[in-house]
Amino acid sequence: MIKILFVCLGNICRSPTAEGVFRHKLNQAGIRDGYLENIFIDSAGTAAYHVGKAPDRRSCEIARKYGVTLDDLRARQLTRQDFADYDYILAMDQENIHSMTAICPADQQHKIKLFMEYAENCPGITEVPDPYTGDMDGFEQVYDIIDRGSSGFLKHLFVSDLL
Ligand code: 4NP
Repeated sequence: MIKILFVCLGNICRSPTAEGVFRHKLNQAGIRDGYLENIFIDSAGTAAYHVGKAPDRRSCEIARKYGVTLDDLRARQLTRQDFADYDYILAMDQENIHSMTAICPADQQHKIKLFMEYAENCPGITEVPDPYTGDMDGFEQVYDIIDRGSSGFLKHLFVSDLL
């Protein structure tokens, strides 16, 4: 079993989008029999502001346009247990990295990575910017960045861990 956790600040915009997009890509890739059951994905926020809430309706709206449903997801806050439970803990930005490294046990720090580290053909884009206080264009850009990051991570996962 490979467990992957996508992390942002509020868990209502970027990380639920990454969770939904990545799950959709796994399904679309028609991952060979048995593989899907061996991959568990979830998302969480470093902050508790929006715990229990559905993703931001702007994120839901854009994802829906691309055939991805986020509506059933609910925000939760990252816990210390997550560092033990997950194999990959993928941060949307550098601030998320700082928040997590501050509370992560030393022997699990290696699990924390910037999500965009795995993206290909994204020169200069190392973070997924926080779209919360911006406009719809910002949400569109975030979706596009997450789509590219997800493709790169999917490739990384299947090349390095499963094949
Ligand atoms: P997210 O976006 O981290 O991508 O979910 C945010 C959502 C809410 C807030 C900040 C960022 N907030 O400050 O409430």
